[in-house]
Amino acid sequence: MTGSGFDFDEIIDRRGSSSEKWEKYRGRDIIPLWVADMDFRSPPAVIQALHERVSHGVFGYTSAPESLVEAVIDTLQAEFGWEVRGEWITWLPGLVTGLNVACRAVGEPGDEVITFTPVYPPFMSAPPLSGRKVVQVPLAYADGRWGLDLEALERAVTPRTRLLLLCSPHNPVGRVWSESELSALAQFAERHDLVLCSDEIHAGLVLDQAVRHIPIATISPETDRRTITLLAPSKTFNVPGLGCSFAVISDATLRRAFRAGMGRIVPHVNLLGFTAAEAAYRYGEPWRQELLAYLRGNRDLVAQEVGKMPGLSVAHVEATYLSWIDLRGRGIEDPVRFFEEAGVGLSGGADFGLPGFVRLNFGCPRALLSEALRRMRVALG
Ligand SMILES: Cc1ncc(COP(=O)(O)O)c(C=O)c1O
Repeated sequence: MTGSGFDFDEIIDRRGSSSEKWEKYRGRDIIPLWVADMDFRSPPAVIQALHERVSHGVFGYTSAPESLVEAVIDTLQAEFGWEVRGEWITWLPGLVTGLNVACRAVGEPGDEVITFTPVYPPFMSAPPLSGRKVVQVPLAYADGRWGLDLEALERAVTPRTRLLLLCSPHNPVGRVWSESELSALAQFAERHDLVLCSDEIHAGLVLDQAVRHIPIATISPETDRRTITLLAPSKTFNVPGLGCSFAVISDATLRRAFRAGMGRIVPHVNLLGFTAAEAAYRYGEPWRQELLAYLRGNRDLVAQEVGKMPGLSVAHVEATYLSWIDLRGRGIEDPVRFFEEAGVGLSGGADFGLPGFVRLNFGCPRALLSEALRRMRVALG
């Protein structure tokens, strides 16, 4: 048990629940630390709200409750000092949908979309799926810390560049972009008249107490006008299977273009997603605070144990429950297979645009994480 009683140490058997994370290795002794969901039960308030909604028994077409919109507005104000209006919000069944809609909504086929790599794979696939060209600008890595390479960014831009897809905080490198980094990006967008699409799904998962997440839309009114911010309670409160996300777009023209890009293709949000989102935002804060403390412990355990593995290093994780581990020093040809054979399922760096790395999801009970790290250490010798 931790603190006031949310038990993050409890091992919940997810086998047989059609969990993507666990089904991948069904019947094999492989601890799955890959896809980004956590093995924790959601906040009790979320579970209770879902029970109540299910008991009602009628599950017709449902629009976003006004009380949910108020809960979102209150949360963004309380957490980030961000004043959002209800009409700026567009509900989406997922953030990946949002990335793809943004690519369709901005510019024309043949235009260019910049993103920083390594990155969550849909950032690289969304532009070509919309007939746009993706331009990958590598993040800089120095002294164990990832950062922006603003010179490379300037070199990458062309008259056809229309959109910058930003991951903030960044999956997989775990950075929370600072005010000066975000200001530099905002100025860059202004100079080249780009739309910014900022995926802030991990904004509620800042682990370092000395840093804070800043929505790029709050950098200046000028930045706000050109920004599509994508948000969701799904990562923070561990409800990604309930598919409830949203875009915040203050500029009416950009918002119209985004909604037009959704066409009739994007389905409604599932009503249970709305229910969970409202309960999470209204009542989930004590749970979130304990979660963050628990995840900090897990992050530190990963850093400590990976530090003992010869030839491996891991960047400090400021936010997310994902560690990005550098094993280029080991020359392992297929790191995912190597660790699977050792009994641990990780995500391969190549999928994120950077081979030689693996991503480890530490959103699980510590006993499971310790065992996975033990297996990795044994395999590496
Ligand atoms: C940065 C980022 N965006 C989006 C997603 C997925 O969002 P969704 O499941 O809502 O499409 C993830 C999941 O790992 C993510 O890390």
